[in-house]
Amino acid sequence: MERELALEFARVTEAAALCSARWVGRGDKVSADQAAVTAMRSMFDTVSIDGTVVIGEGEMDEAPMLYIGEKVGLGVPPSVDIAVDPLEGTNVVAKGLTGAIAVLACAPSGCLLHAPDMYMDKICAGPASRGRVFLDASVRENLRQVARTLDKSVGEVTVVVLDRPRHQQLIEDIRREGARIQLITDGDVSPGVAAAMPNTGVDLLMGIGGAPEGVITAAAMKCLGGDFQARLWPEGDEYEDEIARCHAMGIKDPLQLLTIDELVKSEDVIFVATGITDSSLLKGVRYHGGKITTQTVVMRSSSGTVRFIEAIHNPDKKPLFQDKRIMALLKQ
Ligand code: FBP
Repeated sequence: MERELALEFARVTEAAALCSARWVGRGDKVSADQAAVTAMRSMFDTVSIDGTVVIGEGEMDEAPMLYIGEKVGLGVPPSVDIAVDPLEGTNVVAKGLTGAIAVLACAPSGCLLHAPDMYMDKICAGPASRGRVFLDASVRENLRQVARTLDKSVGEVTVVVLDRPRHQQLIEDIRREGARIQLITDGDVSPGVAAAMPNTGVDLLMGIGGAPEGVITAAAMKCLGGDFQARLWPEGDEYEDEIARCHAMGIKDPLQLLTIDELVKSEDVIFVATGITDSSLLKGVRYHGGKITTQTVVMRSSSGTVRFIEAIHNPDKKPLFQDKRIMALLKQ
């Protein structure tokens, strides 16, 4: 994939972040999500790809835009898989909390796991711990490995975990070992990526979250040289239905352990995310003197480059995004 594509994608996540940021703290996660989806969908029309959404807003009958199987881009080579989460952290934006991002990942066609919208058990660590952490190993063993590879004590390791009742045992196990836990209300992509970046204060992500978010995080780990292992987590009354959806998407054994190379089958991956609210990874959207600032991280696995792009947008300079729908969303 051409390197210029990475910068084209930055405009796509910037647009989603700018439009959903209008809804921060307004208690309306549906409008926040719609704004992000509409803006992202519009910006894709300008990108030189023949893209297919493999992870998106849902099935064709339940999502009007960015649904699984939707074609995006100008319809010219390269032919690529696109995974999107226009607003990762809908509750976060509605409540004005930290950690919301607009994010996408791109890989050559057929290379991203088609994951249904279900749960996934995940472990995500940075480059130093690559090949040393295992989903099926004990919490004690994984914490010791991470501490050893990062040259710190277990008590100095910070693990991010979604604050959910299903994680009670995991939280107890981590605390028993003496490691530090950062409980988050929502949004596990951003801390997963942060675990593989220096000086973020995050060392490890563990626990059960969304499967689509898992594939997107695995794409970032490909770029950063980190590690990611997972297992799909069908549950409750939905169990049989979710297993059937996995089979329909071509996953033969839905309960198999998935390594990073099974989640993302390419060494040519692009990951792009723009902050909506502040997080350990990115600054959120800021307003100042009529202008708007965004921070975006752009990564390419083929070069190993990680770029942080601070952009100052001037909404008065028309047309900011050459698209009336986006301009209208920015005024909401
Ligand atoms: P949304 O942006 O769709 O609200 O998802 C946010 C999120 O917190 C993900 O980051 C996480 O993987 C998943 O939801 C966890 O699901 P649940 O809230 O059902 O525990």
